[in-house]
Amino acid sequence: MPNTALKINPYLDLEDEINRLRREMNAVILAHYYQDGDIQDIADFVGDSLDLSRKAAAAKADVIVFCGVKFMAEVAKILSPQKLVLLPDLNAGCSLETSCPPAAFKKFREQNPDHIALTYINCSAEVKALSDIIVTSANAESIIRQIPENQPILFAPDKYLGKYLEKKTGRKMLLWEGTCIVHEQFSERELIKLQTNHPDAFTIAHPECPENLLARADHIGSTSSLLKFAAEHSGKKFIVLTESGIIHQMKAKSPGSVFFTVPGTSEGACATCNDCPHMKLNTLEKLYMCMAAKSPALELDENIRIAAKKSLDKMLEMSK
Ligand code: 13P
Ligand code: SF4
Repeated sequence: MPNTALKINPYLDLEDEINRLRREMNAVILAHYYQDGDIQDIADFVGDSLDLSRKAAAAKADVIVFCGVKFMAEVAKILSPQKLVLLPDLNAGCSLETSCPPAAFKKFREQNPDHIALTYINCSAEVKALSDIIVTSANAESIIRQIPENQPILFAPDKYLGKYLEKKTGRKMLLWEGTCIVHEQFSERELIKLQTNHPDAFTIAHPECPENLLARADHIGSTSSLLKFAAEHSGKKFIVLTESGIIHQMKAKSPGSVFFTVPGTSEGACATCNDCPHMKLNTLEKLYMCMAAKSPALELDENIRIAAKKSLDKMLEMSK
């Protein structure tokens, strides 16, 4: 929940205040690439889900302020339980997390007792507690390759990432039916138009996109991987099939390049469908307010935290 009771003095310099609170609280501000540019600019570290998990596990600060969605802040609390973990808006969820309720996932596991549960980090702490190994889009392929060939795998909750990994590794997996509301809606028709009008552009895509879009991509990878590709590539035009927040970093790292977003499938002009409505709940004002009020703070049931930590530790161990 945002701190609606706290009114912000309009004359405050929010950046100065956030910097002051960061010093006073001995806090570290972590942000995902899908956050607004002003939040990315004030953060101590910006990264993908894997980088951010590593930073949270190694953090020396007393307070972690997590600018991302709730499951990401939960990961910070699972790995660093003694720290105060703040999130600007506790309502910042994720469609993949919602698609996988813990009770239904438990049943799915019980129906497939011989399968190892490889679960995408975009899920609740409860689902992590019911899983064997957590993966992110940056390490999933390499973790799958470390699992013995004869070991059946179930993969949840993103079916498109699951299908992509099946194709990459040649391993058949039992897939959960979840999707990301941002990555599943890009229009193939609009993508083809952009590719036709800009034949010199390179298409880069997150593996949460459906197969028909991935088939048209020159490079597929996690947010960090897409950023690295655009920064190191000699090309100057990129069509970006992921959340628009990352373009802030892409422009900073490749000042001369042009980045195109792909409109969605919904009728009419869609100005905001590349924005994750959950990620975009966070604002600089809410970041300041959560630091000033030391709330909302992440709290987790200790039994769930300990069980979830096992599957997260396994991931960190297998992706060294
Ligand atoms: P990354 O781990 O690639 O940053 O992805 C996180 C995410 O939520 C993608 O929608
Ligand atoms: Fe979840 Fe999709 Fe938003 Fe990522 S972009 S946090 S997967 S809803």
